[in-house]
Amino acid sequence: MNLPKKLKQVVKKVISSFKPIPPEKSPREKLQEIPSIPYDSTNLANISETQLREWLNNNEIVTAWKSIKDDIQSLNLPEMTGGVNPGDQRAIFYLISAFKPKTVLEVGTHIGCSTVHIASALKALPEKSFLTVDIRDVNDSEKQPWKEFNSPASPAQLIQKIGCQDFTQFKVSTSLDFFQTSDQTFDFIFLDGLHDAYMVYQEIPVALQHLNQGGVILLHDYFPNEQPLWEGYPAITGPYLAVKRLQDEGANLRVIPLGELPWETKLGTNMTSLALLTTY
Ligand SMILES: C[S@@+](CC[C@H](N)C(=O)[O-])C[C@H]1O[C@@H](n2cnc3c(N)ncnc32)[C@H](O)[C@@H]1O
Repeated sequence: MNLPKKLKQVVKKVISSFKPIPPEKSPREKLQEIPSIPYDSTNLANISETQLREWLNNNEIVTAWKSIKDDIQSLNLPEMTGGVNPGDQRAIFYLISAFKPKTVLEVGTHIGCSTVHIASALKALPEKSFLTVDIRDVNDSEKQPWKEFNSPASPAQLIQKIGCQDFTQFKVSTSLDFFQTSDQTFDFIFLDGLHDAYMVYQEIPVALQHLNQGGVILLHDYFPNEQPLWEGYPAITGPYLAVKRLQDEGANLRVIPLGELPWETKLGTNMTSLALLTTY
């Protein structure tokens, strides 16, 4: 065999050994791969848009917010490193203060921006218990993951600083594992973990199973009709697509996007992607 022929054979063999990389599946494709999931939304509260607006403008809560604002500011929570923005933090404080849940679950602790706002609103209530779950050990004292996101302290340390450690618990788990293995139930569930449609579509039905009668679910990154909320920033479509599929499948779910808040959120706007999941 002459050399060029052998070389050709080797090249052919090498090329044929490469498997083509399948193209990344779109969020819609990944969502379609999940079989239909049964759900029961009877425990969800029926909250009106008027009620929600009243909560966001409530004078007592404005006073409560002013009284804790400086303590929270002294925590030096970083902006734009994955935590909910300061306007959303304030909205979460208002919602918890108004709804007065006894038991709260947060999925997606990250650096604790929403965690400290949920906890500081709960602090004023007589009965409270708060569990925040993340797939990562957000308080890992060796790796100190919060430093990577410019946060000065771990979420657990932040909670300690604002005196909420007695009723706040951290758990390392995926949302689905947690829901599958726990029998705890909650009055208020904040879903802020993985925002892919296939995940939120699975999380909502199991979150509903863990909801007490009259409870609510708060979503983050809900972009109605997949439309951007800020110029130049594409919409995150997962939570909207997940809810839409559940509604298309007959779920008695009503979403109230918080939309324009009475205060600034980000990029010089008052717009938020927070949305309350309620029923009719
Ligand atoms: C957008 S961040 C949450 C921001 C946080 N609420 C805050 O204000 O600081 C999303 C978090 O969800 C976590 N996460 C991602 N997938 C998850 C899953 N399947 N279960 C639980 N947590 C998950 C990530 O590790 C990340 O910390």
